[in-house]
Amino acid sequence: MTSVSQRDSFTGKYGFIAAAAGSAIGLGNIWKFPYITGVYGGSAFIIVYLICILLIGLPVMLSEITVGRRAQKGVFGAYKNLAPGTPWFFSGYMGIAAAFLILSFYGVVAGWTMEYVVKALTGAFSGKTPDEIGAMFGGFIGQTAKPIFWQIGFMSLTCFIVIAGIKNGIERYSKILMPVLLVILFFLCARSVTLDGAAKGFEFLFKPDFSKLSSEAVLAALGHAFFSLSLGMGTLVTYGSYVKKNESLGPLAVHITTADTIIALLAGIAIFPAVFAFGIEPAAGPGLVFVTLPNVFQQMPFGSFFCVLFFFLLAIAALTSSISILEVVVTHLVEDFRVSRKTATIVTTLVITLFGIPCSLSFGVMSEFKFLGANFFDNVDHIASNFLLPLGGLCISLFVGWKMARKDVEDELSNGGTLGTGYLTIFLFLAKIVAPIAITAVFLHGLNII
Ligand code: TRP
Repeated sequence: MTSVSQRDSFTGKYGFIAAAAGSAIGLGNIWKFPYITGVYGGSAFIIVYLICILLIGLPVMLSEITVGRRAQKGVFGAYKNLAPGTPWFFSGYMGIAAAFLILSFYGVVAGWTMEYVVKALTGAFSGKTPDEIGAMFGGFIGQTAKPIFWQIGFMSLTCFIVIAGIKNGIERYSKILMPVLLVILFFLCARSVTLDGAAKGFEFLFKPDFSKLSSEAVLAALGHAFFSLSLGMGTLVTYGSYVKKNESLGPLAVHITTADTIIALLAGIAIFPAVFAFGIEPAAGPGLVFVTLPNVFQQMPFGSFFCVLFFFLLAIAALTSSISILEVVVTHLVEDFRVSRKTATIVTTLVITLFGIPCSLSFGVMSEFKFLGANFFDNVDHIASNFLLPLGGLCISLFVGWKMARKDVEDELSNGGTLGTGYLTIFLFLAKIVAPIAITAVFLHGLNII
């Protein structure tokens, strides 16, 4: 067990950026962002999303990293350490709940990407029409055993890596592979935008029509800003606790946010021109990426090879995210209950995987099982992403803005006075006032109260 004095730390700046970016960049960028952009009507949704990233996501991210490094603890320990005897730490329980819920459906979708590696390897897409590729996806996720098999496979991998520990486990995997994913994404964009009929996709992406923007869409944009940046759960509090004392936190937060946002936008550019070129329904839902991209790969030189590589790297991107989610729960159990790391990891994985099974079945035998008009999978996603994460984010920004002393925040951001922190005032303004008001307003608006 690691004690505070001998905590692991990331080796250098690249280690933390790689791990935090590995956490942030995942299915959220490449699967979820395009699919909800499609559902909520395109460009106007994207603009609201970008505003949420800038005014809320960025300050909340910096708040999480700051609290983590200051306290040298995961989220519970951090609140208890910095504000002993106060109930702030309760917000950690929301983070734990969010981690459970998110990882349960995340493992399902990550399992789909593994199945797609195999499909691509065996040439299942070659010569197929867009309709056939669509039907293939529907047929696959509608099954009972196969998607669950892949989900269990993915969750086992996640479990294995978390048991291996922070440095060996997380850092090694994310450093090399993400740049390759980025390169393939560029190729995909280049191919997609030159397809016949791609222009409509541009219109969808870049010509906003705010009259169609629902209050639900605004709430989803906020929720996704948290989801995509890995915020509101305590992930980056934990990761922040491993950042060395001589790193400058402000620029770190800006770099991660920028990288994450660029990848999501690239995924959008890779997907929507193709969606229109192939006559796919933009609001197709969670299958959007899986039914669109195999078509694009078919139109590319060495397409089958790139298709295998793409879904493989997407699975890896999902893995570097899922380990960060599992880590939230494991760190809590290890630090606050003194459970061994191995036991904590295995038990948590088991429970989450079990809870993920009905998520998977939502597309098959449980598709009629609806609550508030949505299936089990969607409800789990909505509760976690649109409520728990923004609430967690609200707490951490209030904590940094109002509870921590300004001089302590300044001390942490300036590494004990050795760095300039010209952005401190604007950061505190965002954390104290803008982010909390905006989160509250979006909540009330989403609930149709204002
Ligand atoms: N950000 C990841 C993605 O986009 C998912 C994720 C990892 C996450 N850790 C998180 C979401 C913590 C919320 C909170 O795929």
